[in-house]
Amino acid sequence: MVILSDWLAAQIDKTDAEPVYRQLLSLMQQAILSGRLAPGAKLPSSRTLAGDLGIARNTVLHVYDQLSAEGYVLSTTGSGTYVADTRPDTAAVGPRAPRATEDADAPAAPAAPAAPSSCPRGDMSVRGQRLIDEAGVSARQWGAFMPGVPDVAEFPARTWSRLQSRLWKSASHDLLTYAPGGGYRPLRRALSDYLRVARSVRCSPDQIIITTGIHQSIDLTVRLLADHGDRAWVEEPCYWGARSVLQASGIKLAPIPVDAEGLNPRDPDLRHPPRMALVTPSHQYPLGMVMSLARRRTLLEYARQHKVWIIEDDYDSEFRYGSRPLASLQGLDESDRVIYVGSLGKLLFPGLRIGYMVVPERLAATFRTAVAELYREGQLMQQAVLAEFIMDGYLTSHVRRMRTLYGERRQLLIDAVTRHFGDALPVMGDEAGLHFVLGLPESSDDREIAAAAYDAGVIVRPLASYYLGKQQRKGLLTGYACVPHENIDPAFATLARVIERHAFGKRAA
Ligand SMILES: Cc1ncc(COP(=O)(O)O)c(C=O)c1O
Repeated sequence: MVILSDWLAAQIDKTDAEPVYRQLLSLMQQAILSGRLAPGAKLPSSRTLAGDLGIARNTVLHVYDQLSAEGYVLSTTGSGTYVADTRPDTAAVGPRAPRATEDADAPAAPAAPAAPSSCPRGDMSVRGQRLIDEAGVSARQWGAFMPGVPDVAEFPARTWSRLQSRLWKSASHDLLTYAPGGGYRPLRRALSDYLRVARSVRCSPDQIIITTGIHQSIDLTVRLLADHGDRAWVEEPCYWGARSVLQASGIKLAPIPVDAEGLNPRDPDLRHPPRMALVTPSHQYPLGMVMSLARRRTLLEYARQHKVWIIEDDYDSEFRYGSRPLASLQGLDESDRVIYVGSLGKLLFPGLRIGYMVVPERLAATFRTAVAELYREGQLMQQAVLAEFIMDGYLTSHVRRMRTLYGERRQLLIDAVTRHFGDALPVMGDEAGLHFVLGLPESSDDREIAAAAYDAGVIVRPLASYYLGKQQRKGLLTGYACVPHENIDPAFATLARVIERHAFGKRAA
């Protein structure tokens, strides 16, 4: 016991900000877990230990009480305090694996194969490792020319705050609990009215499920309507985020080419109907074309015949510059094969994390139960503010104002491209949305150019990141919505220098 109190005395620092009680408790716990104090060993009396350490007896008594409450020691009135036997039951645990620190000199284990069919050897699951290896998420989410981001500085924050403070003043308990399955009812009503008018979606409030955004809507759809190993068609190229969500659920991806009319499955594709197809018919992401009516009808008919679920990702089609926004695919669907997903992230601000899905009537109750069961939805106060924001007409007027603003920025950026490159670099998919694709020469490396632009302070995304198979064309996703008018020219001048150097081999002047 002398050894224990010597060891403790050497460790305890009475000048440390951490109270002596905490230090002593933690040291005793370590001593028991490491075996320094063996099971069955008797602890010194509180009086003796307090005397040896020069601390108050009460401190030691508190520590012993806590050790006893946590099961480290057993106290028997009159006979003292003994270290409890807390060693893991080896029969239940199996043979002891070496700890990471113990085998530092051992030869390194071979790395887990990239996509093995067996169990991985490291900490990660195969699908988890793949998710991380192929992750496209960027550390920077704001600035010229970040694609897909609206101008959050233009968001009518005062209006939102006024609605929010009014709601908080009369916050009833039903706004502060978990959300009932499907989300806040008045918001679902407001969204169904909005979607009917703005997107020709056919739905009742019952068919609307509020989620945290399109990612979650896809995740929920896959969990409910597909099984591990099922196949999904995805557009080639397509949004990497949606691809990651599908793959993380064990869905096998079949990339389907797109042309000027949208998704264009070939005969071999058609001979193997997938479980689901993820499409962006109103504004192909990232190339920007619109799926023609003929292709829409063909896809719907194919889905009906082969019982394919279609996930329609309608992420930003409110922002169309030349013509009116196009009707949704869901509005044409007579066979209830379409799950329509949308988001407020691009209309209002990405951090809001409110999205919605419209599911066929016969699946509505299932989805309502599942969303509550899996994600325990909340944020009813935010949902209530949003409902009022929509019902009072602020959403429509904000979208209208932003459409004009983004349209001007888009034109400024196109002008800047033309000034620098004439028609050497094509601008593609600029009729709608928050970005366009700036085409690059086939001989260039768009990943390298995007990385060099990032280092120079400009964010663009290489088209390469959106292809699952062989990259068909080179280009940069270039967002204009979040860039103030006056920043467009200087930021593009920086990007142009990078492009000239990397794609045309020109040296900086
Ligand atoms: C095509 C597409 N779908 C979905 C999303 C993400 O939607 P959410 O933020 O609602 O999850 C994005 C984001 O950039 C996108 O580009």
